[in-house]
Amino acid sequence: MTKKVGVLFVCLGNICRSPTAEGIFRKLVRERELDQHIHIDSAGTGAWHVGSPPDNRAQQAAARRDVDISGLRGRQVERDDFDRFDYVIAMDRSNLQDLRSLARGRTEHIELLLSYAHNWSEQDVPDPYYGGPAGFERVLDMIEDAANGLLRDIEDRLGNAVDSR
Ligand code: 4NP
Repeated sequence: MTKKVGVLFVCLGNICRSPTAEGIFRKLVRERELDQHIHIDSAGTGAWHVGSPPDNRAQQAAARRDVDISGLRGRQVERDDFDRFDYVIAMDRSNLQDLRSLARGRTEHIELLLSYAHNWSEQDVPDPYYGGPAGFERVLDMIEDAANGLLRDIEDRLGNAVDSR
């Protein structure tokens, strides 16, 4: 069997956007029966919420779309991540900048999530932490769209192994 494709979603705190992206993407991957082929994780550039579950509002918004992210726990991005993951997916341009500085060297696999979106022309998934519930719904809408585009890209990379399923 070929090596798993690794996907790491990254935001600032790892309690709102990136765990939401991890949960949505896990669901898509499960639906496509690709669990054996894709390794998924999330992390934050900041360390404030290491060990914490996702923000309650993010958990509730995800649950309304049948996605359970309650078991996830915050962690901070580590240098190893740039070697371990094939896709390092930033939620906004500030995360992207921070990741590029951290990575040194190899940075071509660090990308913005919304570069995979079809229905959004924005570049950034906005930080919903200081806003109201509508912000979390918008984050989910953006993530759902882009996660589908990202999965299609990975399916292309996996090639025949996936097409023949
Ligand atoms: P996230 O949102 O980056 O989507 O997880 C944030 C969560 C917490 C903080 C900032 C952003 N914070 O400053 O604590």
